[in-house]
Amino acid sequence: MAKKNPKRIGVAIIGAGRVGLFRGEVAARHPQVDFIGLAEKRTDRAELVRDRIGADFVTADFHELLARPEVTAAIISTDEHLHVAPVLAAAERGLPMLIEKPLATELAESERVLAAIRKSGVDAVVGYTQRFRRRWLAAKEKVRTGQLGDVTLVASRAFMNRLVALDNYKRASDPSQISPMVISGTHALDIVMWLMEAKRPVEIYARSVDKALGPLVRGIDATAGLITFEDGSLYTACISWALPVAWPGAVYSLEVGITGTEGVLTIDDTHRDIVLATSKAQGEGYAPDETRRVDFLGSYPPGDIALGELRGPMREETEQWLNRVSLGLPTQHATAAEAHHRLMLTKAFDLSARLKRAIPLPIEAGESSRESLRKAG
Ligand SMILES: NC(=O)c1ccc[n+]([C@@H]2O[C@H](COP(=O)([O-])OP(=O)(O)OC[C@H]3O[C@@H](n4cnc5c(N)ncnc54)[C@H](O)[C@@H]3O)[C@@H](O)[C@H]2O)c1
Repeated sequence: MAKKNPKRIGVAIIGAGRVGLFRGEVAARHPQVDFIGLAEKRTDRAELVRDRIGADFVTADFHELLARPEVTAAIISTDEHLHVAPVLAAAERGLPMLIEKPLATELAESERVLAAIRKSGVDAVVGYTQRFRRRWLAAKEKVRTGQLGDVTLVASRAFMNRLVALDNYKRASDPSQISPMVISGTHALDIVMWLMEAKRPVEIYARSVDKALGPLVRGIDATAGLITFEDGSLYTACISWALPVAWPGAVYSLEVGITGTEGVLTIDDTHRDIVLATSKAQGEGYAPDETRRVDFLGSYPPGDIALGELRGPMREETEQWLNRVSLGLPTQHATAAEAHHRLMLTKAFDLSARLKRAIPLPIEAGESSRESLRKAG
């Protein structure tokens, strides 16, 4: 256990969008945080977030923020394909980091980022927020302590309202860089691979469909696949992020079944337990849509706002990261190396689906690059 001699924290938040604001609100309440600086490209958004969290410094240029002497840690919460430059700059400055998932959207970039983090020796963790949701922690504990015996088969089913997919394809500079696995399936994948961390994946076989989002945004609707581990155990995963806007889950519904030689554990994280029906428009969730009138509350992965504060996994994750930085406490955050491994696996799902054949794991950056996919496809 760490000694109780907490360090002060000056936190740089790079990218003050939805997640930057959530994390900033939590940081503003943390006793060790005495400085918050924001780097946000959109001036109106920067002003809104500054006022909401009482930030001490605001700029559009993250280099200017990272040069401030008060800064001792950084949150990188830019869009998925824009993490690389600020991560490299924060690593250069030797700052501990909380980076949003995925580490990068291209495998070569993710490799570059991981190498820079390793070289600088900084403590960099990645926002696989669901590790902080109580039910996944309970599952982790039962698997870790051998309650199921040897785990032999895991199945996960992630269903998502298409609002997230439409928003992502709209924001991406190149739609081929993103996919349901890279952007969202990575959450379920991380949970399962965290549960299975003692086992080494050796092969992947996957297929995708694009009948709904293809014509709309040149996007992929859904991917299903099978990972085989070295010892013969299996993980079957499917995700669709093309469910109709009327689907009651605002964002993420997940079901996981884990079977072992001596036990089975099933986890219902679909959020069907709290159902709201209303004739009024709702303003919450990742990409709120005024036409939706029925909602599975709790399906927004970061958590929910109650009494003016974020409650739920992203709050716990951010608080625990601040404690990790301040007190050196161990936490269950995903490391940058684990995040790189998740990106490699999600790219391998996409590669296998594209080539329509099984792929040995791990894959190299060259295999999943846009160039090589174009040649293959
Ligand atoms: N862990 C979770 O549960 C969870 C949930 C939602 C999103 N995310 C992740 O968080 C990240 C951000 O998502 P979001 O929903 O907040 O997106 P967002 O679009 O709301 O916010 C991103 C912000 O970054 C700003 N930005 C981009 N590049 C910048 C730069 N170089 N300098 C300064 N500002 C810059 C944009 O202007 C935008 O305001 C993504 O990686 C996403 O996948 C994680």
